[in-house]
Amino acid sequence: MARLKTIQWTNDCARIVDQTLLPRELAYKDIRTSEEMYEAIKSLRVRGAPAIGVAAAFGLYLGIRTVPNTASAAIFETELRRQADYLVSSRPTAVNLPWAVRRMVRLAESANDAGTGEKKMLLLAEAQKIMEEDRRMCRAIGEFGFELVKDCKAVLTHCNAGGLATTEYGTALAPVYVAHEKGTVIHVYADETRPLLQGARITSFELMAAGIPVTLICDNMAATVMARGMVDAVVVGADRIASNGDTANKIGTYGVALLAKAHGIPFYVLAPSSTFDLSLANGRSIPIEERPAREIICGFGTETAPANVPVFNPAFDVTPHPLITAIVTEAGVLRPPYSETIAKALG
Ligand code: MRU
Repeated sequence: MARLKTIQWTNDCARIVDQTLLPRELAYKDIRTSEEMYEAIKSLRVRGAPAIGVAAAFGLYLGIRTVPNTASAAIFETELRRQADYLVSSRPTAVNLPWAVRRMVRLAESANDAGTGEKKMLLLAEAQKIMEEDRRMCRAIGEFGFELVKDCKAVLTHCNAGGLATTEYGTALAPVYVAHEKGTVIHVYADETRPLLQGARITSFELMAAGIPVTLICDNMAATVMARGMVDAVVVGADRIASNGDTANKIGTYGVALLAKAHGIPFYVLAPSSTFDLSLANGRSIPIEERPAREIICGFGTETAPANVPVFNPAFDVTPHPLITAIVTEAGVLRPPYSETIAKALG
């Protein structure tokens, strides 16, 4: 099955699917500078935790490629760190972003004997490696996740944790894609995901493009779908998972997890190891991005509330670990007690 290429390195630039235009238009945008990458991440042209990690890695290369090859190691390092801090500041919640950027910085700093030109090439190769690893991790998540959902007729998902949120396959949707490849049909109920409608605009778009049955629902319909027995499991991605399993994901995920618990439906989180933040004991210290009021008052150019109404617009929430049935990573399926199983698998 031909998949959409969320990010590619081509023609000496990073080419991304501009997700702000979906589903109206499937258009690509060539990113040639770190400023353009910062803007693309901040405005959600490229979005989803693993995808913004990969994007930031390419962004860092784009930021330092203009440093002359004749520049000293000290000058290169100063610019590398400046660009790294700048890119990391684009979005605060998904840990994949600082994870990828720090990995790039560490690599450059460890290449003591390399000249500036050589370090630049090493960094481009590392960004490509991060992208390739993401593809492999998502595929493995799909295989492990398939074992959990293979008997499900339908699953519910929130936001977009599909191929367009990663290099390929996605995380939450990876088992659905793997099932499709094996000839097993799993129907997906997609929450529309207010306010930016990633479920409506992106999840339903990519599943339809792949020929997978999808039904779109408004966020406030999830309880009804569960009460009527229309879904057998919930699958969601993650932006940051603390060492006790508390999971930050798109705003509304916590509510879906509570609903799943109330209806006795398994709630699965699927994420690569790059989404874990083992420096955090629990989810209380996960930084939660707050986005502009206009996304709620005037989403997609239509005024839906008085222009000056006070607004609270957190982009993510934290699902406490007791609500999570299992966490699927490329290392396998982790079950409670998460403090132990996470440390054992990834520590
Ligand atoms: O604001 P977004 O669209 O970047 O939020 C994305 C999500 O919350 C995803 O569920 C999460 O990043 C996991 S993507 C595999």
